[in-house]
Amino acid sequence: MIYPEWRQQLSRSLHLSRSKPEAKYFQVASITTDGAPALRTMVFRDHAPRSNSLLSVTDIRSEKCEQWKALAEAALHWYFVKSREQYRLRCRVSLIHHNEAGRIVCSGHELLQNIHQDGVIEASESACAGETLKLASSIFKARWEGLSSSAKASFYCPAPKSAKLSGEGDKINSDKINSDEINSDEASKKSSEGAGTKREGDQAQNEQDTISPHFAVVVFHPFEVDYLDLKSRPHTRNLYSLEQTKWLKQSVNP
Ligand SMILES: Cc1cc2nc3c(=O)[nH]c(=O)nc-3n(C[C@H](O)[C@H](O)[C@H](O)COP(=O)(O)O)c2cc1C
Repeated sequence: MIYPEWRQQLSRSLHLSRSKPEAKYFQVASITTDGAPALRTMVFRDHAPRSNSLLSVTDIRSEKCEQWKALAEAALHWYFVKSREQYRLRCRVSLIHHNEAGRIVCSGHELLQNIHQDGVIEASESACAGETLKLASSIFKARWEGLSSSAKASFYCPAPKSAKLSGEGDKINSDKINSDEINSDEASKKSSEGAGTKREGDQAQNEQDTISPHFAVVVFHPFEVDYLDLKSRPHTRNLYSLEQTKWLKQSVNP
């Protein structure tokens, strides 16, 4: 499969910064239900297999998921300090998660539509079936399995932005930051070393084995990419846009 130029460049930028964990952080914008911009940092987890789509994980209870259920569009911003390159992507958004009955569902835009450039796969929240279900399930399971143990545990924490009850210590929160966002082996080691009583240990093991009902995979399907290279003189700026299944390129002044 031949990937579009921007995707090859992005792989190169990631490769050049592979020693920097922070190179996998991008800024992700959504629109709130009252029309305001909302922004946060997320971790790039990989591309979906054989596609240009980008994967992140999140808690389905978070506000951004509500926003994407209402308007399944996102803007991503990524700056690679080392190679001095900026990428800005406009994307449609799909969410893969469990419904209340514990079934894997796909919500958002016409789900996974662009995931394989050689075909259109359709799904909706209520009907994630056949090939789409297979694809969604395999992405969902692989992303869960790819998390560190403390990252997995973070999906059993109280809902994001819910008021803290007295007795809910800071430890939970510091674990959450370590794990969910940074996904370091160190965080994973600490969590297993810190396992206290047997009961806590058993609970932790269950959490490892079972996909949390709050776990969600966010699939970003890019349809426009604005690339800026500050190393070159004059600076290089290329605009890429997806027309049907073909990526068009336009070189513009920065
Ligand atoms: C370095 C870093 C990485 C993060 N990675 C993620 C991530 O991959 N997924 C996620 O849901 N939140 C991540 N967060 C937390 C979000 O930025 C945000 O605070 C949280 O998801 C709640 O956002 P919301 O209220 O807009 O839904 C990260 C934060 C930081 C600082």
